[in-house]
Amino acid sequence: ASSYFTLGGPSLLQDIQEVLYSEETIQNKIKELGETLSREYEGRNPLVICVLKGAFIFMADLVKRITVPIELDFMAVSSYGAATKSSGVVKIIKDLDVPVQGRDIIIVEDIIDSGLTLSYLIDVLERRNALSISVVALFDKPARRTVELEPDYRGFEIPDAFVVGYGLDYAEKYRNLPFVGILKPEIYTK
Ligand code: XMP
Ligand code: MG
Repeated sequence: ASSYFTLGGPSLLQDIQEVLYSEETIQNKIKELGETLSREYEGRNPLVICVLKGAFIFMADLVKRITVPIELDFMAVSSYGAATKSSGVVKIIKDLDVPVQGRDIIIVEDIIDSGLTLSYLIDVLERRNALSISVVALFDKPARRTVELEPDYRGFEIPDAFVVGYGLDYAEKYRNLPFVGILKPEIYTK
């Protein structure tokens, strides 16, 4: 874990059972993803869409590694249902500020679980006549998929465990951790 989280006093760290992806591991992967995207989008001007809130840190770090001109925008969606499960019903909480018609779109997602959120988003953007749509997800849990959907670019394939940190939350907490880890089981049952 990063040292500034261990320097005494009350810390979010005491809720973490295990660090799965260190800050350095995540940053190295994002550098690779940025290089790949920069190659693939050479000569184009993609609109990079951050799916709030979970992807906000990934978005910030990723766009710094992209060397082609981009524009960016934010979208917030919510799925109804239990805190750690997706119900499949998706609602747009905040829509884009700009039209997507004729644009090359890169959707930036924190994690793909069932795939329902993303398949809904892709559907919306297709109906708005985007020129192309690709998905970059930092984390992917393929074992949990209920709809057919593969990210075009993926950071890490992870097992079916609920992870927090680096933008990802449990009940809105832990987003500010610089690494990704799993919570102690007692946190869920408190
Ligand atoms: P679906 O099932 O639509 O879900 O692919 C994607 C969204 O579910 C949330 N999610 C998680 N959030 N830790 C989290 O903090 C997790 O392990 C996790 N798995 C899914 C997340 O909001 C994602 O955008
Ligand atoms: Mg969430």
